[in-house]
Amino acid sequence: MKPPLKIAIAGLGTVGTGVAQLLARNSDVIAARAGRRIELAAVLERDKRRERGVDLSRPKWLGNPGELASYPGIEVVVELIGGSEGVALDLVKAALASGKHVVTANKALLAHHGNELAALAAKKNLALAFEAAVAGGIPILKALREGLAANKVGRVYGILNGTCNYILTQMRDSRRDFADVLKEAQKLGYAEADPSFDIDGVDTAHKLAILSAVAFGGAVDFKNVFVEGIRHVSALDIEFAEELGYRIKLLGVARLTGEGLEQRVHPCMVRASAPIAHVEGVFNAVVVEGDFVGRVMLEGRGAGAEPTASAVVADLIDIAMGRAGPGLRIPAVKHKPAPMAKHKGAYYLRLMVLDKPGVIADIAAALRDQKVSMEQMIQRGRGKDGNAVPVVITTHETEESSMRRALDRIGNLKTVREEPRLIRVETL
Ligand SMILES: NC(=O)c1ccc[n+]([C@@H]2O[C@H](COP(=O)([O-])OP(=O)(O)OC[C@H]3O[C@@H](n4cnc5c(N)ncnc54)[C@H](OP(=O)(O)O)[C@@H]3O)[C@@H](O)[C@H]2O)c1
Repeated sequence: MKPPLKIAIAGLGTVGTGVAQLLARNSDVIAARAGRRIELAAVLERDKRRERGVDLSRPKWLGNPGELASYPGIEVVVELIGGSEGVALDLVKAALASGKHVVTANKALLAHHGNELAALAAKKNLALAFEAAVAGGIPILKALREGLAANKVGRVYGILNGTCNYILTQMRDSRRDFADVLKEAQKLGYAEADPSFDIDGVDTAHKLAILSAVAFGGAVDFKNVFVEGIRHVSALDIEFAEELGYRIKLLGVARLTGEGLEQRVHPCMVRASAPIAHVEGVFNAVVVEGDFVGRVMLEGRGAGAEPTASAVVADLIDIAMGRAGPGLRIPAVKHKPAPMAKHKGAYYLRLMVLDKPGVIADIAAALRDQKVSMEQMIQRGRGKDGNAVPVVITTHETEESSMRRALDRIGNLKTVREEPRLIRVETL
């Protein structure tokens, strides 16, 4: 057998500890598959005393990132500290500069610096591997690069954030509102104390930018991802969605259109019969539409120590076998970003209106003037004593800019009592 691949883990938190445990528990099977052992030779961590459920007496404990990046004998640095800037960025750059391969699960880092880091790795003929950064345990990047490599991808989309999917699932199952379910998710540890990264869609956008770079052979273009989170989704919308035969999911969607590469993250109405509508709770799923293969969906756990470790160690096995390719396609294909204003799709619109004669006519006129054609309308109940009642409208396919203009006019009507709610319908 070849000499072992010596690696270092930086950051022994949730994922780092999972990786150490997996390397220890499955060492024989990994060695058999990789043709050599993977040896944890060093760790970078501040807290030595924390109990981690794995014997860490053999690796060398290092105190600072500079020391780790240049530590002799180490071939791979596994960066599991997190954060788009600071220690993680400095460490990855230093590790590549001193000729070490890098494996990371850090989507924030890759969304912001992926192009620069991939170019650095390619220049040095080193691996920069990040399967765990997109959808945790789901091997979607490998699927795109290997099994689906012969296809032209038209669209890739997915549920990429377990926290949001858990909240939306709970809202539907228990008919409760967003704030209530978020509080419960925080208590159960499914949402962070500061949940904004997840619920405002930023985490999904990080992952989507990486996913679409791999799917479409382009550069990571995070700044052109349109992002809208789930804060405004209400129990009422979920109820109407069910009535209309839809479910609401936070999706990251990337597709090539006549306008360029469209990348967007927002709540979507998806047909209840679509496979992705049935991905529930903390589970993630990614769907690839290839020109020859058709639709492929992978579902699994998008986070957690063990699933994420599974993806990190798969990257290590690739490196051990000498088959890790470049992080991104170098040089990357240049895709023009498609502006969101040019997005074409169907829409769900919910308004709270005063139940007065002429209200619906005013709304219909605002839509008609922007050439937005209505598909269905539901008016619920009679407003008593000046109470507003919900009116839901779904539209045929139209351009986002037209929808926005119509919505501005509708929002200014005196009879429309709350900010109009708009949810895009994704045809799957
Ligand atoms: N958790 C998941 O399910 C998951 C899934 C996919 C991807 N990821 C990504 O994986 C990465 C790690 O996530 P995680 O959940 O494992 O985070 P975590 O539990 O917070 O672990 C990070 C670890 O890094 C250590 N650390 C921070 N700064 C350090 C420094 N300057 N020197 C040495 N050690 C330092 C922390 O130590 P202290 O505790 O002392 O601060 C902590 O043990 C992130 O990029 C995350 O986005 C996580």
